[in-house]
Amino acid sequence: MTYLLALDQGTSSSRSIVFDEHGRTVAQAQLELPQIYPRPGWVEHDPREIWRTQLATAHDALRQAGIQARDVRALGITNQRETTVLWNRKTGQPVHHAIVWQDRRAEPACAELREQGHAAGIQAKTGLLIDAYFSGTKLQWLLDHVPGAREAAERGELAFGTVDSWLIWQLTGGKRHVTDVSNASRTMLFNVRTNQWDEELLALLRIPRSLMPEVLPSSADFGHTDADVLGGAIAIGGVAGDQQSALFGQACFSAGMAKNTYGTGCFMLMHTGGAFQASQNGLLTTSAAQAGRTPEYAMEGSVFVGGAVVQWLRDGLRAISGSSEVQSLAESVPDSGGVMMVPAFTGLGAPYWKPDARGTITGLTRGTTLAHIARAALESIAYQSAALLSAMSRDAVAAGGAPVSELRVDGGASVNNLLMQFQADLLGIPVVRPAVVETTALGAAYLAGLSSGVYGSTAELSQLWRAERRFVPTLDRARAGELMARWEHAVAQATLPA
Ligand code: G3P
Repeated sequence: MTYLLALDQGTSSSRSIVFDEHGRTVAQAQLELPQIYPRPGWVEHDPREIWRTQLATAHDALRQAGIQARDVRALGITNQRETTVLWNRKTGQPVHHAIVWQDRRAEPACAELREQGHAAGIQAKTGLLIDAYFSGTKLQWLLDHVPGAREAAERGELAFGTVDSWLIWQLTGGKRHVTDVSNASRTMLFNVRTNQWDEELLALLRIPRSLMPEVLPSSADFGHTDADVLGGAIAIGGVAGDQQSALFGQACFSAGMAKNTYGTGCFMLMHTGGAFQASQNGLLTTSAAQAGRTPEYAMEGSVFVGGAVVQWLRDGLRAISGSSEVQSLAESVPDSGGVMMVPAFTGLGAPYWKPDARGTITGLTRGTTLAHIARAALESIAYQSAALLSAMSRDAVAAGGAPVSELRVDGGASVNNLLMQFQADLLGIPVVRPAVVETTALGAAYLAGLSSGVYGSTAELSQLWRAERRFVPTLDRARAGELMARWEHAVAQATLPA
């Protein structure tokens, strides 16, 4: 039997999964990652905890599978993206906590870049909209605020990395300082058209070139694990940011194929093939996981409050005692009875980009019950995702392609059948849930399997992908249009008048 080990370093936990060559899960282990909130709007992780928890789960997964390092053909890494680590090359010690993707401290630096008129130039090179979400201004903040950091960086003593680079540095005993294109594309320092760090952007953000890792395709030779780390040398053969990895694990390899991950938020990505395309509809362009020699791209949009709306029903409203109750409560009524919830708790992201929007519940009557509100909360996840998908389809059509014809789904809330059926009804296209829902980790394992010869091509991987259930739209299209119009009306009500 051939085994592949995937390390999945996420925002809230570190996980390791052993897969067999058919993409079936053999064993998995998970540990929570402590969150650090030093001030409102700031979010940090201790990089040593990232490494400790990740390594412990890797050992545990191997133990549970009853195998050793020598039985593993290759290792793949997938990770929370944008989170920024800065460490000393000599000691291997981080100079500060990692600044997590959710952290907003770099917003003033971003506002300055926007005011200076850099938005169009940055989008043309990186595919991104200027935002504190990305690593570039987080790294700039570290260099400007950690005593001695800038001087040490200028002497070439420090290394920057997203979480993948940090893990590879640790796994290889400091021998490799590398990343892959999909992670690099989230830094706002990487030119996704030339597949290189952009010298002008590095200069604009005052980032010394010596800090930057070498960038490789996502399926490549990232080095070998140090013999002491996992009890043997394992080839590190695949690396991708978690959302691009999920796109790969869902076997979305060609233009127009799309996936949506339903987690705390939702991340929707559509592959756009080999041509860079800037969105006309408020989406990001990003590098897709690159298996071959040439760059590949995806459009991305995210919903800030997805599954988190169910947590709010539980912890904020205290309307349910456990998240699993939401489906039965929502199913106890035939529809939301005209209630619309827009969970714009932290503003609205793509395609609206209304940072000042706030949540609303509209359409209340004397007959409204908690069940209607629960149903509206669940449906809000589907409405927001439908608005994203329609923006993607508009971009695809504008570029001469076809609208998205099927949506592949994964993530915690994708197990909710009511939500998936409603999603298909709104979209008017099939929503397909795969047999293996661990698509993020699977993508990293596939990338490692490709570079180590377990798989010959992405075509072979497409053959391995299996649907568990297809949700086919049953709602009349005119009715779906009315519902989307009512959603857009509710969104307008969630936004303060200018
Ligand atoms: O862009 C942020 C994303 O990569 C984080 O994903 O699953 O760790 O919350 P997750």
